[in-house]
Amino acid sequence: MREDGVVLGIETSCDETAAAVVRGGREILSSVVASQIEVHRRYGGVVPEIASRRHVEAIIPVIDEALAQAGTDLAEIDAVAATHGPGLVGALLVGLSAAKGISYAAGKPLICVNHIEGHIYANFLAHPQLSPPVLCLTVSGGHTELIAMRDHGRYEVLGRTRDDAAGEAFDKVARVIGLPYPGGPALEQLAKSGDPNLISFPRAEVEGSPLDFSFSGLKTAVINYIHTAEQRGEDLDYADVAAGFQKAAVDELVSRVDRAVDFTGMSVVAVSGGVAANQALRRALTALAGKSNIEVYYPPLNLCTDNAAMIASAGYYRHVAGEVSSLSANAEPGALLSSLACFDG
Ligand code: KG4
Ligand code: ZN
Repeated sequence: MREDGVVLGIETSCDETAAAVVRGGREILSSVVASQIEVHRRYGGVVPEIASRRHVEAIIPVIDEALAQAGTDLAEIDAVAATHGPGLVGALLVGLSAAKGISYAAGKPLICVNHIEGHIYANFLAHPQLSPPVLCLTVSGGHTELIAMRDHGRYEVLGRTRDDAAGEAFDKVARVIGLPYPGGPALEQLAKSGDPNLISFPRAEVEGSPLDFSFSGLKTAVINYIHTAEQRGEDLDYADVAAGFQKAAVDELVSRVDRAVDFTGMSVVAVSGGVAANQALRRALTALAGKSNIEVYYPPLNLCTDNAAMIASAGYYRHVAGEVSSLSANAEPGALLSSLACFDG
């Protein structure tokens, strides 16, 4: 692929139907996201079957819109990149099938991209000066991963959650408080008027794995606290509960980054995924940066949550390294982040 090669990216792993056109891996020519949040809100979470059907309806118009906004067409793009996992299998299949169809019909190479790798590349889109090695914290509704990115396409997973993802814990606690889906932004808003130091919730440690995360104990502790107070008929200030929970979750995330910096000696940290939108997390990591002499990068809010520009960017770098996926590639709901073949072993 040429240095300024243009990649069409497609993302449908959860509840956003997204397509984007990115030049040279770093320059967003268009990024279209059709969110299904309103549809799923009434159920309090993503309903996989509804998500798949909505993706089927939206995928072609969203791709057309991304190409039109970029002032290009299928004949002009150099490759098509699509998320093949992890995610909801029915949802993934829609975007991947569309990408395969385009690849076959237009004669363009297909590149399958791991969704977590996509989140990592959101920071490469946002910060032109960023280059590996980078310590990546990817925190979203589906994953919480701490990854040493040694080079483009070369990853070492240092730690990950043993149970709930960070965003999942935000969503579940928010739901018990009675906040609308997705809970993360609503919980952060509520926490602003609460005292984070009034209620102290537990910080988890995974024995023998200091870089792993665990959020289910914290989630259960918060839910038990709320239920106990409700059963006793006590007045509960939900803002204090939200602030206490958020502080515990942020402390856990920041402590792992602190340790990973210590263990690896890496000095550039890039945070991504939906939870990277959280201002309390950003403030805490900025404070750590001041103390530990590291640089911390975040994408703008529209690149924190799911989008296809990050998939196009990750796909560009994979393709530059010579990777092309087979048209028989399948959706992989549990796909693990893997390094490029040239780094294997
Ligand atoms: O990356 P994303 O759009 O989708 C996944 O790949 O999961 O992340 C969505 C997650 C949801 O759990 C949402 O509640 C959480 O990110 N989130 C937040 C905030 N904004 C989104 N969590 C905490 N604070 C926020 N401001
Ligand atoms: Zn995501």
